[in-house]
Amino acid sequence: MSLRSRSENVARTGSLRCFFDHPAFILPRDFTLFLLGARTDAAIERTRAALGARAAFEAAYTQSDDPWASAAPRYRYQQRKYEQIMKLLPERRFHDALDLGCGLGLLSQRLATRSGMVLGVDVASAALRHARVRAEGISNLAFAQGDVLDLPPELNGRFDLVVVADTLYYLSPLSDAVLATLSARFADLLVPGGICVLANHFFFAADRESRLSRRIHQSFASSPEFDVLSDHRKAFFIVTVMAKRNAGSTRICGS
Ligand SMILES: C[S@@+](CC[C@H](N)C(=O)[O-])C[C@H]1O[C@@H](n2cnc3c(N)ncnc32)[C@H](O)[C@@H]1O
Repeated sequence: MSLRSRSENVARTGSLRCFFDHPAFILPRDFTLFLLGARTDAAIERTRAALGARAAFEAAYTQSDDPWASAAPRYRYQQRKYEQIMKLLPERRFHDALDLGCGLGLLSQRLATRSGMVLGVDVASAALRHARVRAEGISNLAFAQGDVLDLPPELNGRFDLVVVADTLYYLSPLSDAVLATLSARFADLLVPGGICVLANHFFFAADRESRLSRRIHQSFASSPEFDVLSDHRKAFFIVTVMAKRNAGSTRICGS
């Protein structure tokens, strides 16, 4: 191969890699992941009706060590979601970060690279058992069982970053009143000016979760506790980055 055609080849391979790495690019196998997730969600829905929400998530993590194939290298969607969330964080180190609904702690692990300390909280103890194994050796990452609807007051004012990914649309019922309570509760967890990041699955508003995701993000964006710093629509999730408003300040016009 001539030097010229080799360099053209390298450039082509580079631009192909760029194309495949683009956030909007989804491989057919990524759709298999959505089907897998839908199957897990349907099983959770059935168990929840019989045994309640916590038991449903415990069962999901007991039957599988990765119910949403979040860590499977074969599927890139979740990895890409975590990477995008990390990129969208304000460019600074955080003192104390909280990952609510942390699941296997894959995002918590990434947050630990940018934070003094990270606490991952999940309703399912079974999820946390998997998360602890995966996080072995990461000294600034801890996990605790907890429900986003019933977080202890000891956590108030302890964090400068709260992240909640693909968790809130599982809450049922998810009324406007529940969403208003959650935004007030998450603001209580933060120091003044602290950052709250919401990320939720969004698939052209066709499915139930996407409709719920839109409601969740709209509700937080219009809440009196937060100013929206940025809003992003990716394939196939939405991310909203917000800052806790200082007491007494008024909402920034147009934000
Ligand atoms: C789809 S997984 C997302 C996990 C992780 N945030 C991620 O993006 O990889 C949803 C997680 O939310 C947790 N969860 C559901 N309801 C919860 C609640 N009320 N409080 C805390 N965690 C909850 C589930 O146990 C599960 O681990």
